[in-house]
Amino acid sequence: MENPLFAKKPVHQLLEEMEGENRLRRILGPVQLSSLGIGAIIGTGIFVLTGIAAHDKTGPALMLSFVVAGLACIFAALCYAEFASMVPVAGSAYTYAYATLGELFAWIVGWDLILEYAVGSATVAHGWSHYFQDFIGIFGITLPFALTNAPFDFDPATGILSSTGKLIDFPALVITAIVTTILVKGIRESASFNAAMVAIKLAVVLIVIAVGVMYVDSRNWHPFAPYGFSGVAFFGQTIMGQTGKGGEPLGMLAGAATIFFAYIGFDSVSTHAEEARNPRRDVPIGIISSLILCTILYISVSAVLTGMVPYDKINIDAPVSNAFAQVGLTWAQFLISLGALTGITSVLLVLMLSQPRVMLAMARDRLIPQSFFGAIHDRFRTPWKSTILTGCFVGLMASFLPLRILAELVNIGTLLAFIIVCAAVLIMRRTNPELHRPFKAPLVPFVPIAGIAICLLLMLSLPSENWYRLIIWLIIGFCIYFTYGKKHSALRHANGQRVGTV
Ligand code: ALA
Repeated sequence: MENPLFAKKPVHQLLEEMEGENRLRRILGPVQLSSLGIGAIIGTGIFVLTGIAAHDKTGPALMLSFVVAGLACIFAALCYAEFASMVPVAGSAYTYAYATLGELFAWIVGWDLILEYAVGSATVAHGWSHYFQDFIGIFGITLPFALTNAPFDFDPATGILSSTGKLIDFPALVITAIVTTILVKGIRESASFNAAMVAIKLAVVLIVIAVGVMYVDSRNWHPFAPYGFSGVAFFGQTIMGQTGKGGEPLGMLAGAATIFFAYIGFDSVSTHAEEARNPRRDVPIGIISSLILCTILYISVSAVLTGMVPYDKINIDAPVSNAFAQVGLTWAQFLISLGALTGITSVLLVLMLSQPRVMLAMARDRLIPQSFFGAIHDRFRTPWKSTILTGCFVGLMASFLPLRILAELVNIGTLLAFIIVCAAVLIMRRTNPELHRPFKAPLVPFVPIAGIAICLLLMLSLPSENWYRLIIWLIIGFCIYFTYGKKHSALRHANGQRVGTV
């Protein structure tokens, strides 16, 4: 008798549910889906994290870090695309895990995706606030000191929380409130707002590459990998490469684990499958095209950045605009800050759009309360209650918490979700070979196995405390599942006597 913890949601049931009431509106085409993907991808990662990674972990080998992280994402993206074409329903990796690995794994993925989308949004809102303050600073405007940052910060080298002397990160709270309001109003408005922002940030990234390349001095690319090409740890012990002051691994792979954040978001396209006009074709197009485009742009930007400025002179807070200032192009600072601000806003928009859709899928399965998380607004047809809850959660975290802790959690949580999706493709090819797959990941089993291997390597290349935080997060999730989700699960009730009880 099958253990109900591992009961799988039949694919035909998923497809039938798509036909029912309480659906979202089908209005997104391939261009809008790709634009949502790019909207979620280019942001804090390229505009902020490149500085920390190049300066502290990789040097010019940052270019290779983007190649490695990009490969992990492309393998995972091919697997996402296969699922998205086969089961084009909201919920993304959560739904795929439910169909293949069973309820407990689905819960783990759904809970884990909160790290990616909601905690990721808080990180991004925090980054937005700093660029905003930089931007208004160009015009000589400053905010009251108490409103500029969270009240305390975390020093990873010492592990100590220290007071910042401030009260709240007010701009982060305001941008979260604005984005939440737009999202409650509706996805059509959100998609066109997003498209405009994507156009601006793409233009700025292209200008950075086109102008920056003229200021590249190839001597800055030597030494190419001052911290080496590896950087892998296992629970605090560096097993390959150099070790930093705080005990963290250094090197090209360690840099890849940090800038992996820059790629997060392409998978959010799959959470919009239910709003796509032709999900079986357009969702794979949206995922893969947005990812490939961003990979090319990232490698180019990191080549230009490390070519313009010696790696140890790269600025950590605003690396791209500062590199232009260092070569005398101060006019570019305004343009790049504007592009960064716009880029980060659209990331926030898409990540915050995705979170309620995962919750909607979980609520339909009754793993979380349906009356709240499954509620669709009569007029706007959006999951408004969970959108507002997400907004409150993100706003509070972004304005009050030391986001350094939260930011690192995002990468490890997302890598885990990618591993589960790659594994799920392998399993599904065996268990349901007959299912119609409008898009098939090529070279199976190589692609999913390579995806799992690279994602695992990147998880191991993150500072070890992230593993402990991930485990604590999962334990909290298990407590909720075993006290609520397991009892209310719709699948368990439907299967009733057939699968028995644990
Ligand atoms: N990839 C997104 C960013 O870099 C999360 O901001």
